[in-house]
Amino acid sequence: MKLSRRRFLAFTGTTAASAATLGDSLLFNPARAAESSQQPGKVNLDYPTIPVGKAGDLRVGQAVSFTYPDSSSPCNLIKTGRETRGGVGPDSDIVAYSILCTHMGCPVVYSAEERTFKCPCHFSVFDSELNGQMVSGQATESLPRILLSYRASDDSIEAVGVEGLIYGRQANILPSA
Ligand code: FES
Repeated sequence: MKLSRRRFLAFTGTTAASAATLGDSLLFNPARAAESSQQPGKVNLDYPTIPVGKAGDLRVGQAVSFTYPDSSSPCNLIKTGRETRGGVGPDSDIVAYSILCTHMGCPVVYSAEERTFKCPCHFSVFDSELNGQMVSGQATESLPRILLSYRASDDSIEAVGVEGLIYGRQANILPSA
């Protein structure tokens, strides 16, 4: 089939316009990236705000269990006893993590002596003072960090979000039944 010059130009013009539109939606867009990074860890999920304890009740090195963002997601609240990255409270030393190992979901156990979480199943180790970063073992992802907020007026700590994907989930907030 022969295309006239005029029809060829019309065809290529339409294709180029479509490609530009498609490219705009697929390519990296710094403006959109900046918009979505304004709430780190929130990733457009509607996380609940749940009270998890009072700072004054915590003891250094003693893990306190709670669940977040729902009852099927076990977590630990830890007072490390020294200023910790992402820590809240009067001493900026209170952090929290999901305790489901990112390898295959076994509950990890906090070791105050080593300041790590250890997995009893295949021995992965996670740093409790470095964003749950994996230190060794089978896991390849850090422990999801529970984002906390501290209110000095009543010494309360609340869980407000999750950074990282909780083991076994496609999204941290389960679809409502
Ligand atoms: S389930 Fe934790 S290392 Fe395998």
